[in-house]
This record gives sequence, structure tokens and C-alpha cells, in this order.
Amino acid sequence: MSTSNVSLKNWVDEVARLTQPASIYWCTGSDAENSNLIEAMLESGDLIKLNQTTHPNCYLHRSDPSDVARVEHLTFVCTRSKEDAGPNNNWMEPGEAHRKVDALFAGAMRGRTLYVIPYCMGPIDSPYSRCGVEITDSPYVVANMRIMTRMGTEALRRIEREGSFVKGLHSIGDLSPERRYIMHFPEELTIKSIGSGYGGNALLGKKCHALRIASWQARDEGWLAEHMLIMGLQNPEGRTHYIAAAFPSACGKTNLAMLVPPASMPGWKIWTVGDDICWMQVDDEGRLRAINPEAGYFGVVPGTNSKTNHNAYDMIRRDTIFTNVAVTADGQPWWEGLEEGTPTTNWKGQPYTPGDGPAAHPNSRFTVSAKRNPIYSTLADAPEGVPISAILFGGRRREVAPLVYEAHDWAHGVLVGAGMASETTAAAVGQTGVVRRDSMAMKPFCGYNFGDYWQHWLSFEHKAKQLPRIFHVNWFRRDAQGRFMWPGFGENLRVLRWITERCEGKVGAQETAIGHLPRRQDFDLYGLDVDTATLDALLSVDAAAWRTEMQEIGTYLDQFGARVPDALRAQQRKVLAALG
Ligand code: GDP
Ligand code: PGA
Ligand code: MN
Ligand code: MN
Repeated sequence: MSTSNVSLKNWVDEVARLTQPASIYWCTGSDAENSNLIEAMLESGDLIKLNQTTHPNCYLHRSDPSDVARVEHLTFVCTRSKEDAGPNNNWMEPGEAHRKVDALFAGAMRGRTLYVIPYCMGPIDSPYSRCGVEITDSPYVVANMRIMTRMGTEALRRIEREGSFVKGLHSIGDLSPERRYIMHFPEELTIKSIGSGYGGNALLGKKCHALRIASWQARDEGWLAEHMLIMGLQNPEGRTHYIAAAFPSACGKTNLAMLVPPASMPGWKIWTVGDDICWMQVDDEGRLRAINPEAGYFGVVPGTNSKTNHNAYDMIRRDTIFTNVAVTADGQPWWEGLEEGTPTTNWKGQPYTPGDGPAAHPNSRFTVSAKRNPIYSTLADAPEGVPISAILFGGRRREVAPLVYEAHDWAHGVLVGAGMASETTAAAVGQTGVVRRDSMAMKPFCGYNFGDYWQHWLSFEHKAKQLPRIFHVNWFRRDAQGRFMWPGFGENLRVLRWITERCEGKVGAQETAIGHLPRRQDFDLYGLDVDTATLDALLSVDAAAWRTEMQEIGTYLDQFGARVPDALRAQQRKVLAALG
């Protein structure tokens, strides 16, 4: 197979000359192709067969132990002007970046197959969707891209009709961290990633294309590419509101998107549209409309069980690729938080004895088709997407941030998002549990200067007629003993209920300097097992702590100098003044 798109054909030829593969294979996305790949990976040891009786069509991949998470310090945005990448990104001059990685790509695919993966981010017939082509030498990447995107012949046909596509070149190289780089060239719609086989570094349709490159395109074209889940919330009367929520990696997006309502809230239903990425455009009626550019979930495994989230738990019992989980004696996948089974082999493939520390890697992942989700929204494949009623920002904050509050208006909401902070997690290499600013959960993913990004967000006030309301949530407050104060998971529906009722103007709140907070009487408490003192603590504002927080946000904004919109600084001064 080949293509009528000359630029694609030339690029594949050029890459083959540089990387010297033993053969070239154009992916069609067919079932037979996938079966052949899986067979080949079982033979090579890239995949291990899990217990096919308990987990039909499930496989395990063990990545190199030095290659288990995104590498933010090795991720670069290579724009002509350093200012355009901003202090939020590592920057390298494009010419230098190309030379550096091309030297590593030279001969990198010797003895390997070069796979050409045409893919479409978003429903294949949606005007909001965008296409790309990933070239890789990793069959594991091919199998994952097949689940995570609309991959193969149909995507190639769309590329041939449209002409343009994002070019992503990937090789696992020699997997050595010294020769690992994830380079983005937004002005050239090009990605070059070498030395890692891990999801966010290697599945180029996801973070590299759908967030870093797409955010740049979105700014130029007047739309938004965000690190957000999209969910539908259907109330007992049958009305559905769609919510988009930005939480940093490993802070609860997949779980919220697949929420299982508590038994004490009958009649409420949740529908998943997406669990990680959201592309939004202003529609003809002046509303924000969203699509999920992905077709599958690359989700955090630890913590998943039938009590925290039985939708996710059921979903990953078949047709799933597990990465870096532990295994039981009879070949079942195992992870921390799973209530049954005993691990005998750890994520590295070594014998495991209890007391050895985590058996599964804390950032172990599942890859599974969205169609396996029992509450997959029928509108998830709709070319026109869904209208968004509310946008949520949130993170892991053991202190300061209340359970929920609503921004005063859009501009204040942009400050709430811009000033967001969260404890770091195992999703990226580095220390975990450290609070850092993570604007709109896009710190690792915004392909341009945050100052310009905040300005772009503010501009929607004039672009749209009916903007979503903006809220901040925090499921992760802790008490003096370090225990979570809020039960989270299904109980988060109580917070979502208040949010949608705010959107309908049906429920009250208390005005505070930081925004509107629910009073106890505004909240559905029926069947909730949280004592009054804890609830009051979760729903109150510590003025002294918030003064410090707002001052820190001011200092943070200063880093971006003249690129910070005046309107954003004005919002920060206003909240600080209101705190007294
Ligand atoms: P994502 O990476 O943002 O999609 O986050 P996930 O939904 O995969 O969750 C990451 C981790 O946080 C998992 O270990 C979950 O079990 C845990 N988690 C998710 N939601 C909640 C919650 O509401 N409360 C608590 N305490 N933990 C949660
Ligand atoms: P997550 O996705 O947000 O589900 O953790 C992967 C990532 O952001 O690295
Ligand atoms: Mn993510
Ligand atoms: Mn997730």
C-alpha cells in the first residue's frame, strides 16, 4: 500500500532513508493486521499473554524500567522565537533540535519494521477532527494507536482528501534516557520523539498532537484544545448537561468521566464522552461545543476496583493491553487497590513477596477501546460534538482548596484555571506529592506561551454568546492524620449535581472573595457518610491561606512578564483585595 498524497509519500521515503528500516508497513487498522501484530509481539516478548479465561484478549507489556512515565524535562517546544514557547516550556532552536534528533534517528530502525500509521483525532466525519500520521518502529505503539485513535485506511482517505496532516516521527531508539527527546515543531506541524516507548511520549496522537500541536493550531484558528474529560450528566427528569473538566494527570479525570452514581441518588445517569482530551469550538448558536479526539482510554490502573469504579473495573476485563502491572500465579493482572488475588510477579517481571513495596508500577496503565465502556455516550461519535454547560478546574490539594466553588464570571474563571495548583503524581518522571502551578492542567501540554494562552481563553468572552460557567473542585483534601476528608468517586456526583443546578439557576450559594460556595442546605446530603464538621471544613474559605495563595499566584503570573493579559492581573488584584 501507498498513498496519492505526494507530501506523505515523500516524507515516508525521506524517513526511511534516514532511519534505514528492514521493511516498511502501511497500517490499515484491520482486525487481521492487529491479530498478526499481537502474535508477533507474543513471540518477541513485547507482549505477555494474561489468563485468557478470566481476561479474554488481555495482554501485558513490560516497558523498560527507566521508561515508565512522561519525561517533561526531555520534552521541548521548538518555535522560531523562544518567547513564543514561553517559560512554561523547554525550548530549543528548531534547526538545532532537528540536527540533534536527526543524528539519533540516523540508522535507528535498522533491522526493524517502519510502520506508517495514518490516524484521525475525532470522529472520522467531524469538521472538528484533525488527522496525523505517525511513523514508528514499535509494534506496541501500533497496537495502542489502533485503540486510542481512528487509525488506518479511513484516516488515510481523509488525509488524501484534505491534504494536510501532522507529521509524527517516533523510534524507541536504544531506550537510553540520555538519548531521549520529545520534540515539537508547531510551526511545521511536526513531532519527533525518540528513546521512549511510554504512552505519553510515544503515542504521538495523544499529548504531542492532540494537546501540544493542537493547542497551537487552536490559538491560530480560534478554538481550544484542552486536557479535559467530557461527561454527560442526566438528571432524574431526563435532562442532560455536558461538563468538561481539567485535572492534571492522575488526578481523577478517567474516574469522574466514568462515575458510578451512589445508590442514594436514584435516577441520575452519567455518560462518558471522553476521559482526557477535549477540543472545543464556538458553534452557530454561540455555545462551546466539544468533541473527544480520542477513541480509547489510556488509564491509570492502580486504585481501580469494583467499589471505586465498577464501570472501569468491568471495562478492563477483556480486550485490554496492560502496561507495567503485576501478575498473579494464574496469570491474572494485579495492581494496588485491587481487592482480590495475590501478586507473585512484580511489574518488572521479578518474583514478588508481600512487603516488597508496590507490585504494580504506580503509573501502570490500561489501554482499552472506548466502546468497551458500559456508559459510553452515543454522542461521543457525533460529528457535531456536545454543548458544554460547565467547565471544571481541579487538582490534588491536601489543603486550601475547598471541595467546590464557582467563579464570579468568565474572566475570574480564567484566573481560577490559570492559578490552579496540584500535587505532582507518578504520571511524569520526578518527585511526587509536590504542589506546583499547573494552569488549566496544561503545564506539560500547552504548545505555546501561557501568557498568550490565558489571553486566548479570555477572548472567548467576546467570541461566544452562551459561555459555560466555571467551577473549581478538589476531591483530595486531607485531615491531620493524612486521610482523605471527602469519599470521592461516586459521591462526587453530589458536587456535579450542585454544579448543574447552578447552571439552571435552581440552587443557592454563599458569596465569598474566591467565588460562590454551596452552603450545607444547597447540597444533596441524603445517604452521604460525611460528618457535619468535616463537611463544613470542606465548604469553607480560610482567608489567611487564600491571601498567601493569591499572592503566590501573583508571583507566578509575573514570570510571564508582558505577555500576561492586564485583565488577568486585574482579576488577581480584585480577589486579593476582597480577601481583606
Ligand atoms: P486521570 O489520570 O486524571 O484520568 O485520573 P484517574 O481517574 O485515572 O485517577 C488517578 C488516581 O486517582 C487513581 O488511583 C484513582 O483511583 C484516584 N482517584 C480518582 N478519583 C478519585 C477521588 O474522587 N478520590 C480519591 N481519593 N481518589 C481518586
Ligand atoms: P492521564 O493521561 O491524564 O489520564 O494521567 C496521561 C497523562 O496525562 O500522562
Ligand atoms: Mn492526561
Ligand atoms: Mn485518565
